[in-house]
Amino acid sequence: MPAHLNSPLTLPCGAVLKNRIAKGAMTEGLANPLNQATEEHVTLYRRWAKGGCGMLLTGNVQVDRRHLERPGNVAIDGNDGLAALAAYAAAGRENNTHIWMQINHPGRQAGVTAEGLAGPSAGTYGDAPVRALDGAEVEDLVRRFVHVARTAQQTGFTGVQVHSAHGYLMSQFLSPLTNHRTDAWGGSLENRARLLVDVTRAIRAAVGAEFPVSVKLNSSDFQKGGLTEDESCEVVRWLCDAGMDLLEISGGNYESQVMVGRDQSGELISRTKKASTIAREAYFLEFAAKLRPQVTVPLMVTGGFRTLSAMEAALASGEVDVIGLARPLCIDADLPNQLLAGTIARLPSPEEETTVDTGSSIAYYFNQVRKLAAGEDADRDIDWAEQLQRHSDFDGAAEVRYRAALSEAATA
Ligand SMILES: Cc1cc2nc3c(=O)[nH]c(=O)nc-3n(C[C@H](O)[C@H](O)[C@H](O)COP(=O)(O)O)c2cc1C
Repeated sequence: MPAHLNSPLTLPCGAVLKNRIAKGAMTEGLANPLNQATEEHVTLYRRWAKGGCGMLLTGNVQVDRRHLERPGNVAIDGNDGLAALAAYAAAGRENNTHIWMQINHPGRQAGVTAEGLAGPSAGTYGDAPVRALDGAEVEDLVRRFVHVARTAQQTGFTGVQVHSAHGYLMSQFLSPLTNHRTDAWGGSLENRARLLVDVTRAIRAAVGAEFPVSVKLNSSDFQKGGLTEDESCEVVRWLCDAGMDLLEISGGNYESQVMVGRDQSGELISRTKKASTIAREAYFLEFAAKLRPQVTVPLMVTGGFRTLSAMEAALASGEVDVIGLARPLCIDADLPNQLLAGTIARLPSPEEETTVDTGSSIAYYFNQVRKLAAGEDADRDIDWAEQLQRHSDFDGAAEVRYRAALSEAATA
């Protein structure tokens, strides 16, 4: 029988998701200056858990406090802040919901660092110099990812996801554009995938056979000379052997933002693509269809789903097992309940109704996450220009607090 949104899903590890809607990871920026979770995470994830998703992915949590995607990230590189993490996880588990922690290192794409950018290979990112991680640091990354996964499990998160999409460190290792190493982590696809596969295998060994372990992977880099779809398929087969339970498919990076529906020039894909693609809505369905016959692991596709009919069609086709939703859930946390009840046919997508640049539209969602976390409603009447300013003021102030906390720790 074809799956529908209300169908439960049993993962290879035995865990059951109560339905097929999952909230995609969205960085919250809500941590305190020590990069620990706060009461705002609790309020936010309680609202999302009550909203009806079968599974919630957290925003990306960093494995090294010196390298952040943005200043308000949660980072776990010691053993502090555990009570706050436990409260966060408990809120996300309400309503029989799964809450999986997304684990990340931003590499050369870090938004803020204590000591400059680092990645697989030396070079520049924009105007900033990037140094190459040495072999001992790469090996230490496996330990760091495992430490965060075990901490997630011990504090009550019900699964983990390794972030290997969107141009962060794991995808930098995978891509020939950013990985020019000549040691065991560079060159052949097997070498470029070694870190991700080793991390996945080591996490599986650390958390046991019954705990969900997921990976978010780009279908390709959408850049000439980058990771190809065929290479991604091969990596997925290795990840299955390493014990992965669910693959989330995405794409792009900061330079090519296909994950939020923009082409290379920043134009909305929905305005430039052919009609058949637009009808299916989701950006990465073709890759799911290509992968499906090759692997048995459940597939989640995130990016672009906005109508109940397209979600049901994707599930009915058998090509996708879980529908990932991100931006609409910043506007209204209750939308999954309404989709599951069939009382809403289309999700809000305000940037489709106007002309707005990528930065301002993403800033709007960042700001709405904070409003939900404060117990408020999202802005429905949007001043796009003000959104960007509000977001950069917030992150600017958070960066000052982060740097002050770092220097206090250094002088203590
Ligand atoms: C505000 C915001 C923050 C995001 N943060 C993350 C993140 O931390 N990790 C991640 O994998 N993707 C992140 N994404 C990408 C989303 O998970 C998702 O892939 C993308 O928004 C497309 O899904 P949608 O069309 O349903 O919004 C973020 C997107 C937005 C809009």
